[in-house]
Amino acid sequence: MAAGNRTALVTGAGTGVGKAVALALLKDGYRVALAGRRKDMLEQTVKEAGANGKNTLVVPTDVGKPDQVAALFAQIKEKFGRLDTLFNNAGGNAPGVPFDELPYDKWQAVVDVNLTGMFLCAQAAFRMMKEQTPRGGRIINNGSISAHVPRPGSAPYTATKHGVTGLTKTIALDGRNFEVVCGQIDIGNAISPMTERMAQGVRQANGTMAPEARMDPSHVGDAVVFMANLPLDVNVHTMTIMASKMPFVGRG
Ligand SMILES: NC(=O)c1ccc[n+]([C@@H]2O[C@H](COP(=O)([O-])OP(=O)(O)OC[C@H]3O[C@@H](n4cnc5c(N)ncnc54)[C@H](OP(=O)(O)O)[C@@H]3O)[C@@H](O)[C@H]2O)c1
Repeated sequence: MAAGNRTALVTGAGTGVGKAVALALLKDGYRVALAGRRKDMLEQTVKEAGANGKNTLVVPTDVGKPDQVAALFAQIKEKFGRLDTLFNNAGGNAPGVPFDELPYDKWQAVVDVNLTGMFLCAQAAFRMMKEQTPRGGRIINNGSISAHVPRPGSAPYTATKHGVTGLTKTIALDGRNFEVVCGQIDIGNAISPMTERMAQGVRQANGTMAPEARMDPSHVGDAVVFMANLPLDVNVHTMTIMASKMPFVGRG
């Protein structure tokens, strides 16, 4: 595939990790579709990249809504003709509360975006990659350190991120016959709106509050570009990229 013809979709491209990945893919020469609910944030990413309307497609989308995801992929097909990489990134969290106090609606809101949204985008990408010529493509799911270990009071986030790992493994298996490849990146503490509170202090497993180290999200952008640029007969199945000094290894 000629460098300038590679096409990617980044969900949640208006902020944090998704923005850093969209910027990195655009810098590498990809044509990038940017999805998220807030149009102004997506347009800001395009502006910061110094990109133009020829290489980018901004589509305000709620990834938890099947009709909106279908419309997003129809626009990608119409404008770019194909999709080589999906960075399945849009995600959300709920305020940490004791497990027995978690309201149903908070649980459901996280499931809607972190699991249903990831499923809907992955399924639409899978279908498009299977049908297109040349056939195939790569789906990179954004998991988390929470796909491995929980933080206190994080049932919806931790459960959905463990679910993302199941989705990654299933797509990697079901995609084999169609050149559809699937890998997962598990991030720990990249600077983003979601991790603002970590600089102030977050609850630790022993109940104390402590600030945690964070890292520049541009490193995640570089990592995703590396994964995306591999030939389709090679896959980074999982990658963990984290602030070196955050609590994870060594049980603290
Ligand atoms: N930062 C980290 O250290 C870290 C660590 C592990 C995993 N992650 C994962 O990285 C992803 C991005 O998180 P972030 O840290 O960059 O935080 P963030 O800035 O809050 O990003 C979340 C993004 O998802 C979008 N989004 C949320 N709900 C959506 C929906 N229903 N439909 C479409 N877009 C939606 C948001 O845009 P709109 O509000 O405009 O829709 C926003 O751009 C998440 O999946 C998160 O779990 C991050």
